[in-house]
Amino acid sequence: MRSRMVAASDTVFFSGHTMKVAGFFLLGLASVFSVQRDNFRTCDNVGFCKRHRALEPGTSSYAASASSMKLNPTSVSLDVLEKKSDVKFTLTIFGLKDNTFRIRLEEKDAMRKRYEPPVGDVLIKVPEGEELKYNGQSGNQLTFNKGTSRVVLTTEPLRIDVYSDDDPVISINSQGLLKFEHTRPKPGWVSWLSSTLYSWFSPPFREAPPAENQDEENKEEAQEGEEEQQKEEEVKEEEVKAEPEEPDMWEETFKSHTDSKPFGPTSIGVDISFPGVEHVYGIPEHADSLALKTTKTTDPYRLYNLDVFEYDLYNPMALYGAVPLMLAHNEKRTVGVFWLNAAETWVDISSNVADKSIFSNLADFVTGNNEIPQTDTHWFSESGVIDVFLMLGPGPKDVFRQYAALTGTTPLPPLFSISYHQCRWNYNDQDDVRTVDENFDKFDIPYDVIWLDIEHTDGKRYFTWDAAKFPNSIEMLRNISSKGRKMVTIVDPHLKRDDNYKVFAEARDKGLLIKNKDGGDFDGWCWPGSSGWPDFLEKHVRDWWADKFSASEYVGSAPNLYVWNDMNEPSVFNAPEITVNRDIKHLGGWENREVHNIYGMYVHEATMDGLLKRTNYQERAFVLTRAFFAGTQRTAAVWTGDNMGEWSHLKISNPMIMSLNLVGITFSGADVGGFFRNPDNELVTRWYQAGAFQPFFRAHAHLDTKRREPYLLPDENVKVIREAIRARYTYLPYWYTEFFTSEKDGAAVMRPLWVEFPKEKATFGIDDNYMIGSALLVRPVTDQGATNANVYFPGAGEVWYDVETYQTYKGQQEVNVQAPLSKIPVYQKGGTIIPRKMRPRRSSTLMFDDPFTLVVALDPKQEANGQLFIDDYRTFKYRDGAYGFIKYSFTSHKLHSNVEHQGSGFTTKEWLERVIVVGLPHEPRKVTLHQSGQTKELIFTYDSTTHVLIIRKPGVNILQNWTISLH
Ligand code: NOJ
Repeated sequence: MRSRMVAASDTVFFSGHTMKVAGFFLLGLASVFSVQRDNFRTCDNVGFCKRHRALEPGTSSYAASASSMKLNPTSVSLDVLEKKSDVKFTLTIFGLKDNTFRIRLEEKDAMRKRYEPPVGDVLIKVPEGEELKYNGQSGNQLTFNKGTSRVVLTTEPLRIDVYSDDDPVISINSQGLLKFEHTRPKPGWVSWLSSTLYSWFSPPFREAPPAENQDEENKEEAQEGEEEQQKEEEVKEEEVKAEPEEPDMWEETFKSHTDSKPFGPTSIGVDISFPGVEHVYGIPEHADSLALKTTKTTDPYRLYNLDVFEYDLYNPMALYGAVPLMLAHNEKRTVGVFWLNAAETWVDISSNVADKSIFSNLADFVTGNNEIPQTDTHWFSESGVIDVFLMLGPGPKDVFRQYAALTGTTPLPPLFSISYHQCRWNYNDQDDVRTVDENFDKFDIPYDVIWLDIEHTDGKRYFTWDAAKFPNSIEMLRNISSKGRKMVTIVDPHLKRDDNYKVFAEARDKGLLIKNKDGGDFDGWCWPGSSGWPDFLEKHVRDWWADKFSASEYVGSAPNLYVWNDMNEPSVFNAPEITVNRDIKHLGGWENREVHNIYGMYVHEATMDGLLKRTNYQERAFVLTRAFFAGTQRTAAVWTGDNMGEWSHLKISNPMIMSLNLVGITFSGADVGGFFRNPDNELVTRWYQAGAFQPFFRAHAHLDTKRREPYLLPDENVKVIREAIRARYTYLPYWYTEFFTSEKDGAAVMRPLWVEFPKEKATFGIDDNYMIGSALLVRPVTDQGATNANVYFPGAGEVWYDVETYQTYKGQQEVNVQAPLSKIPVYQKGGTIIPRKMRPRRSSTLMFDDPFTLVVALDPKQEANGQLFIDDYRTFKYRDGAYGFIKYSFTSHKLHSNVEHQGSGFTTKEWLERVIVVGLPHEPRKVTLHQSGQTKELIFTYDSTTHVLIIRKPGVNILQNWTISLH
């Protein structure tokens, strides 16, 4: 079923096909049931991870010099000395707008420039500064104030404490784990010989010396302070002497691969503590719970973009993407830490509550109370500089906004892209596409986008078509377009090394490909066999790539074709950890180790640019990516890669997508049904129900799986899946409005409960219930055979309504609700108004002009509020003001429509066909509509058991002001 490619000691998986690969053996292999862990490094196999992890909390050997302080209006910088090596650094503290600080530590006289993502690529601009006031020195502490926050810098040992409203909130290097491996010359031949001899006679991964010994050494060194003030040469000599103790500083081996490390050790790391905090979140991508766990007994959480075959759940292994942003939350506040670094990064987490151990604790120090919880984190990266953004909230939505100001937001997706997507590896040919398309109509199931995986191409040459299977792609695209539907084709970044493949030949001839360490074009294996990879880090390469999407270059494409970038970690089957070697060279001279996690983002940025260029930036487009980094949200949606058709994978999709949402990647989802394996009908059905209420909603399946388009299931399941997909379509106006507001404020669209109820401790660990925006609570059923589900209804004094039965539930309690297969537990919060379109059609495009229903769910005060955003659902004209934004409020028995914005001549045919008022205790005598001085009586029905009033046909255009009164 599955093939296995073996090269020396490396095991490489690829699916479905046997390829003739020179020098490799192909072994047929029955399905492998979990991740091949030994394909991936653990901390023990990574030199810098071992070095940082071996550090014991204690006194930092770094000291800042108060006399070197340079004060600027919005920043302050000081010299820092590492006392054992005598190496100098510059520390800069920036005050930034909106309750944010930035802390940078750079090597002063570095022998080689360190990589920092160019401004504009991760940071959308140079962050705006805000006045930082120097408040004087007391002992070895310097204090700087900004608004109601302050930074206290302890010069020796170096430590930075950040206070918000006098509460200690973040503390840096309070454990003394700062370690900045300075650049240095490669040791001379004597040491080379000794280290080579050493490595010959040592196992490849020698354990780090026991921590105690190292600690002893540290102590001794500290005592010999004076002697350590030696000249640079002597320091180097000492490093050379120390070389044998760190055999992996200048070369590392993993399996059969040797990493040449020509620039030696360059890692950086420091501890960051959150006093008063028990719960930290974020730093995707990991298949783990929403609230991060302590890593006392595991590896640290790893951030290194990797193609992990059949990934395991509930562990800190790296996956396809990386966003080094963590949120720390307690009842009082939320803070965020953004570690701006594109190199491999690891994060250790410990907690005095979870680990039941006592740490030296800033909060204890300040308050004298040792009951206060604290979470300590330790971050380390293979290279780069220390560049940390501290966002002080104080609420979760403030942190979203603060992070959005740094890295941008998800632009409003075109409506089709938040509708339902039908994918499979592969739809075999045009007939297959037509049949699937027709069956959706026959079974009355809406869908917007059909996808083509790698088999649609001519031999995995992207931008081409298999001429036998897709002889007339334009006609195929036109057919689906007649129903408002779109197609997505896959375009991976590896280019088949084939002189006759124009895209490859051009990239090679123009010198656009990434290089191996010796300067030749890097040659690796991926789907097409031997391949080259364009160096997307370069703007001119991205521009070249973008042009490939034009109608004249991408022959057989059409305006309703969009793109999926896969394998962009990048995945390289025959390289260490299934990705490019760390010592390969990018065109700008960087090694991949320095830029690894950002590569995939540049791929999808270039793709998005190409799609936008096709319409001269008039029409919005859609790109899906597997690899991602901080900033990905600006140009692509993300899915969680190759999950499995297992209940456990359905369950983990919720925390995984929520984690992405917390770090700004709001437009994200998981393969519905699971990629690998053949899920049973119940699981597929439950997965559709979950996917219908997750931001990116796409079914996908592996080449070897049984066909499972929804209409192929037994009638009972088809019915339930149809209802789930139709439910998605009825809520599209709500999703769309949420995405519009999120483009402005960066807020998560799919939110953990604590984001809406930040003071409610019971919500902090919940990851199977979540909110969409502020109004909908969702609890997908993720257990086999379940006919009940525990739903946590948050909010003291709140009332929640089942969206189907209107049954009510009081807030701040867990309830075991009935959830037979047909039921998706979804609840609308009392006090909200949700716009819906209740006539799902074949595609969302066909619903553009359809009428709205407003669902007014009353709170205990008999009030509610809501909003609606509308535009043309596809272009950028909304950015010029061509849209409508309407606010709804229900108070004193009156529902008001208030058009807050109608601009640039925007009009619509959409109208109001129904108002449903939920939670109304008494039947009104009469219902009237007031508009422009006219009053009209409306017909209605009232159900006295459910307390639901349905007002029919107000008939007004949606973009108008009016009032409906209940008498
Ligand atoms: C790996 C992707 O994760 C999967 O979704 C896709 O179907 C295969 N590559 C083939 O392109």
